[in-house]
Amino acid sequence: MTIGLICAIPQELAHLRAALADAHSEAAAHTVFDTGTIDGYDVVLAGSGMGKVNAALVTTLLADRFGCRTVVFSGVAGGLDPKLSIGDVVVADLVIQHDAGVLEDERVRTYQPGHAPIINPTDRLGYPADPELLARVKERLAGISVPGQIVYGTVLSGDQYLNCETTRERLRRELGGQAIEMEGGAVAQVCEAFGIPWLVIRALSDLAGGNALFDFTTFVDQAAAASATILRRLLPVL
Ligand code: ADE
Repeated sequence: MTIGLICAIPQELAHLRAALADAHSEAAAHTVFDTGTIDGYDVVLAGSGMGKVNAALVTTLLADRFGCRTVVFSGVAGGLDPKLSIGDVVVADLVIQHDAGVLEDERVRTYQPGHAPIINPTDRLGYPADPELLARVKERLAGISVPGQIVYGTVLSGDQYLNCETTRERLRRELGGQAIEMEGGAVAQVCEAFGIPWLVIRALSDLAGGNALFDFTTFVDQAAAASATILRRLLPVL
């Protein structure tokens, strides 16, 4: 079974590219898909670029053209939960597209993508990870020793890099969430449409407040490496 692996930016991709063996490349859309093995497991690795449309496009190709039966995103995120620090790892049990919804009073009231209140209402908010996959992941990661802590929780996705303390506090208050990034919600939405499981692994490169862009440049490589390490540990249970 082939596993689809997505990263958004070169710093995230570098660690997995370095581990890829027997690779051959195929260009499609705006990127390159590397088919090969990592630690003996069949994978197709692609850099999507940042944002939900890029991630959705690449996830679609992994599922439909490359026949991947699980898609995993490995990369970095901004931390939202005050209990977390840079370097900690968040594995999503739910992803919410925080920027989808209704614009009112000069801000977004988050609502499920593809729906709007009145027009096509729903009680759903977000995309839950497959419980069986998540159970295998938790078992496999239990007791491993990594520099940061590993937590499971809600990841918020949107087409904005969050560098604002006020918005960070509002999103955390209104939606909860351990981390914020720009692709996971699209990966989950597309995988759900194809009926395949997905996993989003994010190590914190910053805390999404006023220092986020500065911290990102300092910690992105270290955080991307941590996420790739966790992903490689999980390959046997994906
Ligand atoms: N990825 C890493 N840090 C982020 C942030 N602060 N906002 C959105 N995506 C991120």
